[in-house]
Amino acid sequence: MKGIILAGGNGTRLRPLTSVTNKHLLPVYDKPMLFYPLELLTRGGITEIMVVSGKEHAGNFMNLLGSGREFGVRFYYALQDQAGGIAEALGLTEGFAKDDNMTVVLGDNIVLDDISERVSDFRGGARIFLREVESPERFGVPVFDGRGNLIRIEEKPEKPRSRYAVTGLYQYDNTVFQRIRELKPSARGELEITDVNNSYLREGRLDYVFLKEPWMDAGTVESLFEASRLIRERSASRR
Ligand code: DAU
Repeated sequence: MKGIILAGGNGTRLRPLTSVTNKHLLPVYDKPMLFYPLELLTRGGITEIMVVSGKEHAGNFMNLLGSGREFGVRFYYALQDQAGGIAEALGLTEGFAKDDNMTVVLGDNIVLDDISERVSDFRGGARIFLREVESPERFGVPVFDGRGNLIRIEEKPEKPRSRYAVTGLYQYDNTVFQRIRELKPSARGELEITDVNNSYLREGRLDYVFLKEPWMDAGTVESLFEASRLIRERSASRR
């Protein structure tokens, strides 16, 4: 299983915090944001991890993370020239993933669950991780039919059809790259990860599980602040 952290994009929602640095290097309580997705993958037992970043701050990513020796893993780096979408960033990792399955996490997601079992029991197709949230309209939202079957995912719907968010943690087999090649840009001009997930779903190859621990995406000023507070609370309760 290969690990992938997608940390490209512009971070425009966090300006001026991101005017001269990258969103993923900002602090979430006592660590750079990027450490959270990274530790999620290493806790899950993944030892080969590719980090995709934008061009501008790529040097800072390498300075911060190094070869991976300090973390007991090996890092690989890729550059995304422009913020063409999450699926575009994932497409850049094809040469790294080769024939392996992948666990993919967005660089601004704070996932606190232990995923080691999910890493070892993944057999192919795709898997998404859902979490109940207060404002599903900010996220990808799963739609279920009357019998509780997942029938599609809607990206940031005005009227969410469930209380769940599709979090920024995904598992894919290597058919993901062909699916990405077939995508068309969305109305916001990006290759959407939700379209990739719907493509697996249409073939009956999308599995879903619910996260149990708190989950946050730290991509807005409010959620960045809340994420620091959450991590601080959890470290205090462990002391
Ligand atoms: O956080 C979960 C949500 O992430 C999902 O519920 C949505 O379905 C998914 O589309 C995504 O929504 P956002 O609008 O929050 O994504 P955002 O553009 O903020 O990008 C999130 C991360 O993805 C960002 O921290 C870095 C990476 N990214 C994003 C873009 C647009 C890239 O690596 N390259 C990109 O071009």
